[in-house]
Amino acid sequence: MTQSPQRIVSVVGARPNFMKLAPLVRAFAARADVQHVIVHTGQHYDREMSEDVLRDLDVPPADYNLDVGSGTHAQQTAGIMLRFEPICEALRPQFVLVYGDVNSTVAVALVAAKLCVPVAHVEAGLRSRDWSMPEEINRVVTDRLSALLFAPSRDAVDNLTAEGVPADRIHFVGNIMIDSLVRLLPAARRMGARARHGLREGGYIVVTLHRPSNVDSPETLKELLSALSVLAADTPVLFPMHPRTRARVRTLGFRPTGQLRLLDPISYLEMLSLVASSRLVITDSGGLQEETTFLGVPCLTVRPNTERPVTCTLGTNRLVAPRRDALLDAARNGIHLRSGGQVERWDGKTAERIVAVLCDGERFE
Ligand code: UD1
Repeated sequence: MTQSPQRIVSVVGARPNFMKLAPLVRAFAARADVQHVIVHTGQHYDREMSEDVLRDLDVPPADYNLDVGSGTHAQQTAGIMLRFEPICEALRPQFVLVYGDVNSTVAVALVAAKLCVPVAHVEAGLRSRDWSMPEEINRVVTDRLSALLFAPSRDAVDNLTAEGVPADRIHFVGNIMIDSLVRLLPAARRMGARARHGLREGGYIVVTLHRPSNVDSPETLKELLSALSVLAADTPVLFPMHPRTRARVRTLGFRPTGQLRLLDPISYLEMLSLVASSRLVITDSGGLQEETTFLGVPCLTVRPNTERPVTCTLGTNRLVAPRRDALLDAARNGIHLRSGGQVERWDGKTAERIVAVLCDGERFE
């Protein structure tokens, strides 16, 4: 008699979740013993923030879309919980997989845990110890609720162990974002986004800024835009803007000068293509800190701390204060190259390991 497949529900909602989901979509598709159901919360809904990214990653349309949209943290979290609960109850999966540290992650973990459906957290154990960031709250709460914790790095394993998580729940599987990067880098290079933008190899800077701490205060945003304007006097600076940032820059009435190019959000492949050939990345994103480390591209992270310390200790990342002069100093003097791909288990095989844990009971210590 054949056994019925185990049902695994993945829930994603925001742009950085999608690169983490894609490798598992492929890995589960290769298993006859898994029924993989995808739920999109609708936390991100603009075409450039969701549909375009999912298309680049070959992720099929979600089985359920909760259409939650934007709101305050409470509105968004509660909205996802209310809409996910009946689906989770009806599906009663063996596992609910949640990704990263966005509001969708914690909302779904709360619902599933209370329905006694085991939660598995992909990208568990990262800690900035900065409770002013909503993501830190989301990480800690999600990990506390999770039955299985998939850690991307040794420091994440150590954080979980120090918090008292039993060792048999923690699996050091590596960084799943790197799976997507490894698979799509050749296509990204072939696409030649650099040439299309008329740029030289290693001759330009890529910028992304979207954290409330950087873009919601007009003073801070002005400092950062001022530094970018100085850099753009002699180097092309490409700045694809998150919708939040675009709105704040518009409110300031800021007009770019020199070679500063303010762009709409760009697709995953185009971003990868541009970053891989850039001289420097300036960002406050979590994913870019990791991607630049893998690629060996210098990265300045405009934040006082990072939950991804290996990108600083082993990789190309450096933290910088959100001040004009600090950013200019760092951009001019701080460029340090290292070869990419040197973090343990950031090797494109993380999804395979996760499936081996979920389906075959393997352990990764
Ligand atoms: C969220 C995550 C953050 C992640 C980021 C990646 C949380 C708490 N934060 O932040 O960790 O780094 O995603 O992008 O979950 N908006 C649009 N269109 C969209 C989505 C958002 O216009 O498709 C605008 C809305 O004005 C919204 C604002 O962006 O209010 C913020 O969106 P939200 O999803 O709440 O948080 P992010 O800043 O995107």
